[in-house]
Amino acid sequence: MSEHAHESVMVNEVLESLVFEKDGLYVDCTLGAGGHSQKILEKLNEAGSLISFDKDAEATKNLSEKLSNDKRFRVVHDSFSQLGSYVKKESVQGILIDLGISSTQLDNPERGFSFQKEGPLDMRLDITKGISAEEWINTAHKSEIENVFWNLGEERFSRKIAKRICEVRSKETIKTTKDLTKIVLSCVPRRTKKHPATNIFRAIRMKLNKELEELYDVLEAASYALSYGGRLVVISFHSMEDRIVKRFIQGKDRIRTSVEFSFVGDKFIKPSLEEVRRNPRSRSAILRVAEKVA
Ligand SMILES: C[S@@+](CC[C@H](N)C(=O)[O-])C[C@H]1O[C@@H](n2cnc3c(N)ncnc32)[C@H](O)[C@@H]1O
Repeated sequence: MSEHAHESVMVNEVLESLVFEKDGLYVDCTLGAGGHSQKILEKLNEAGSLISFDKDAEATKNLSEKLSNDKRFRVVHDSFSQLGSYVKKESVQGILIDLGISSTQLDNPERGFSFQKEGPLDMRLDITKGISAEEWINTAHKSEIENVFWNLGEERFSRKIAKRICEVRSKETIKTTKDLTKIVLSCVPRRTKKHPATNIFRAIRMKLNKELEELYDVLEAASYALSYGGRLVVISFHSMEDRIVKRFIQGKDRIRTSVEFSFVGDKFIKPSLEEVRRNPRSRSAILRVAEKVA
């Protein structure tokens, strides 16, 4: 079970930027523990509605009573990149994307997301699809492991860690979060407060869940689904994600859409010091708000 209930990030900032038409249709792409979804519904009137997505069946099954009893609410167990299959073109007034994983997922050792808790190496958001971290780490080619650690983890010791993984797995299967953490610690000197396995665990999670590909896809889907004047609100937790969001809003790196957005208010918003003090996991959050203009 999780140690901490997930605390939604920058709730007031999200609501102020997202909800403008109380009778509108809104989409929360990342339901998680439902905190943002609940607050959005509280701001809507009887005619408003909300569709919330999550890839993780645990999130879509464990709805609060309030959410499951609300007739204006619909939950979808699917990837947010599939948004376009659930809503009509230009029908949505606001879309929220709160990237990453929730504390509920991170703190559950069975999911394998945390190097601080011993558990099976899984790391899939949707455990019904794709391969687990155990399968990947024990079968992927050394050069692929190295590239993932270098590109997604920005890990200086990527080569050394990949080599060590291949040596260890030739003798025994790497099975648990502790096995992997031990390997990383044997390769990376501990110089700062940041745990040396942080980058490696994040990189594997991003790879297995195709997180950057999904982000490109949901931004494209959002530009199709939003009405003109509709708001796109994205919270990222890593500079790689934030860069994709920023460049998309600026009209760069697009593949399938020429829709124009303009930034609303400040180019980005960070959580207040008070919020970071209360919820240290919010410290790396960065919020961007854009309006579909043409
Ligand atoms: C940071 S949490 C969201 C927390 C939520 N805003 C709240 O207030 O509780 C991110 C959630 O997005 C989900 N998620 C990540 N990638 C997804 C994707 N491609 N499609 C659907 N859900 C995704 C994760 O499973 C996780 O539950």
